[in-house]
Amino acid sequence: MIKATLNNEEKIEELIAELTLEEKVGMCHGNGLFRTEGIKRLNIPPIKMSDGPIGVRNEFPDDSWTPIGNSDDYVTYLPCSLALASTWNTELAHRSGEVLGSEARGRGKDIILGPGINIIRSPLCGRNFEYMSEDPYLTGRMAVPFIRGVQENNDVSVCVKHFAVNNQETERLNVEAIVDERTFREIYLPAFEMAVKEGDAYSIMCAYNKLFGYHCSNNKELLQGILKEEWEFDGVVVSDWSAVNNTELAANAGMDIEMSVTFNFDDYFFANPLIKAVKEGRVKEEVINEKVRRILRLMYKVNVFSEDRKRGNYNAPEHRQVTLDVARESIALLKNKNNILPLNSKKVKTLAVIGENANIIHSNGGGSAEIKALYEITPLLGLKMILGGQTDIKYAKGYSSDLSSKEKLIKEAVELAKVSDAVIIVGGLKHVADDLQLENNALSVNKEEEVKHRIDSEGYDKSDLKLPYEQDELIKRVLEVNNNAVVVMLTGSAIEMTEWVDEANAIIQTWYNGMEGGRALAEVLFGAVNPSGKLPITFPKALEDSPAHKIGEFPGSETVKYTEGIYVGYRYFSSYDVEPLFCFGHGLSYTEFKYDDLNISINEELENIDISVKFEVTNVGDKTGLEVTQLYVSDLEASVERPKIELKGFDKVYLEAGETKEVEIKLDKKAFAFYCVDDKKWTVEEGKFEILIGSSSNDIRLQSEINVGSSYKF
Ligand code: BGC
Repeated sequence: MIKATLNNEEKIEELIAELTLEEKVGMCHGNGLFRTEGIKRLNIPPIKMSDGPIGVRNEFPDDSWTPIGNSDDYVTYLPCSLALASTWNTELAHRSGEVLGSEARGRGKDIILGPGINIIRSPLCGRNFEYMSEDPYLTGRMAVPFIRGVQENNDVSVCVKHFAVNNQETERLNVEAIVDERTFREIYLPAFEMAVKEGDAYSIMCAYNKLFGYHCSNNKELLQGILKEEWEFDGVVVSDWSAVNNTELAANAGMDIEMSVTFNFDDYFFANPLIKAVKEGRVKEEVINEKVRRILRLMYKVNVFSEDRKRGNYNAPEHRQVTLDVARESIALLKNKNNILPLNSKKVKTLAVIGENANIIHSNGGGSAEIKALYEITPLLGLKMILGGQTDIKYAKGYSSDLSSKEKLIKEAVELAKVSDAVIIVGGLKHVADDLQLENNALSVNKEEEVKHRIDSEGYDKSDLKLPYEQDELIKRVLEVNNNAVVVMLTGSAIEMTEWVDEANAIIQTWYNGMEGGRALAEVLFGAVNPSGKLPITFPKALEDSPAHKIGEFPGSETVKYTEGIYVGYRYFSSYDVEPLFCFGHGLSYTEFKYDDLNISINEELENIDISVKFEVTNVGDKTGLEVTQLYVSDLEASVERPKIELKGFDKVYLEAGETKEVEIKLDKKAFAFYCVDDKKWTVEEGKFEILIGSSSNDIRLQSEINVGSSYKF
């Protein structure tokens, strides 16, 4: 028996002393698809995991990928991570985390496998919807409160994934990301570092791909060096499912728990082969002890051994309110010529809703992030719900994977558009849930091709930026008969709109937006909610304009060269003067905001710079609204290449019509630093910098030069 008077670290050491080698190794690998082995004799339960992050995934048996299929695993469906980032609201990130943590505990889990915080490098990556942004600062700022929300009060751990430089699905198990050290430090690591140091993530998932010559799972420099030593991470490294491929290398590199996709649990690299490796002296027993120490530490942190462990609560009514709040703030109004939006429900007596995405659900697809949503309000349902029978709403499918019916569907849609007071087209991308969603007929492309080219999903990257199913043609032809038709894009990444963007007067971007997504969209369309989402990614005009495609390589094959270096996302578009379709940070409102009175005070201490940036924002329109104010820094005298602008602060402000608020954003030395590879230190060079305050990365409203008086290395 472990004495109650000992502190947790002492209890852990006592347990380690009591465990046999076999028992310890049992704790370091999957003994079910989503759990480790428990040690009954010492009352150590298994660690139970489940996928996230949009909700807790359905239950699987220990040894089969066919879901159990009972009715007890329907859950709250949260907007996808990209949608969450599109709110730029850190409070909502925290509340989303709280919901996920509570649901995970409610389902009896110890670790929820999320959030995914890889950088969105190419618009083609199939998992972009699961990630947050092309910008490391925005990703980190949203991830930290999310992680805290999950862990703080729920006795559950996150598993931040996928560490590191996992930015594509093509060849994901073996591709080697060739990234230079400065880019690695400035673009691909910061969000993970924030997740560990500020978010206090209890566990991290190691990615599949290779990096600097080794699979991440075998990469001692990455796991032991950077994560555990440099960042002082005291939690658990869990492998992505079947990311481990070498017992000795992975064990000595700092991998703690091997999870995989097969059912031969005793043959896992961290099962019998690990016992053998210890016996043969290839892996020291102390290395195993250290893994178990970390695992038990996580178990104490989530109160596994406590009688008072939190119960959690899934499908709580208040959770749905959070999904609605996030969805409302995530929708981005991209274009609103002649103030077509919001539509006036009193004037719209007949409404045409066109496009399959108005009428299908997405929560049950996409790969490991799929869930069984308690419900999912589609755009069509949302519109009917809020218009309450006073508007005659007719739906036309408009497009389909069955291309043989294309002309018929377009004609139907056009005819409906002609006779309706208002038209809303809801197109975009979709996940694939199962074979049923792929309509099988002679003319449909085969399934593999279909998935690859048309679908936002784990395991696949798209091959182009085009809208699937000839949607461009549908949209153009509907706009020909009604140029006030509102185009809504429902996607999990950027898509190309050049064929019709000039003809469309009103364009809205929404996402896989949670169980209340359709209601939120309807509220935005009819003005009950004033949109305030801002794009967390750049929408390029064409794929060739994206840096990973223009300068770098994507998707590569055995290797993929990140030759674009630090010029990812808007860092490229702004530095190379490439005009995007819609820029990073863009999103309109039904009201207007005026920026005034930029005031910057600098206080340079010995070790730090404290900068306070103050300015005023006024709502000069006649509707209440929310504005995401964005702060970018530009280094005017750098001795090395630097992106023209970099996001270093933001604040979302709520303003009644006519109201003015002062915004203050604080900066420290990190906001001015680049990573110097020569001495491996973050470096601030003395000299001139510009502080730019904007409503988007291309819509800078206030700017001022400042002088940093000395240099810093840290
Ligand atoms: C995914 C992970 C996921 C895991 C377990 C892997 O294929 O990359 O994100 O957590 O499966 O389902």
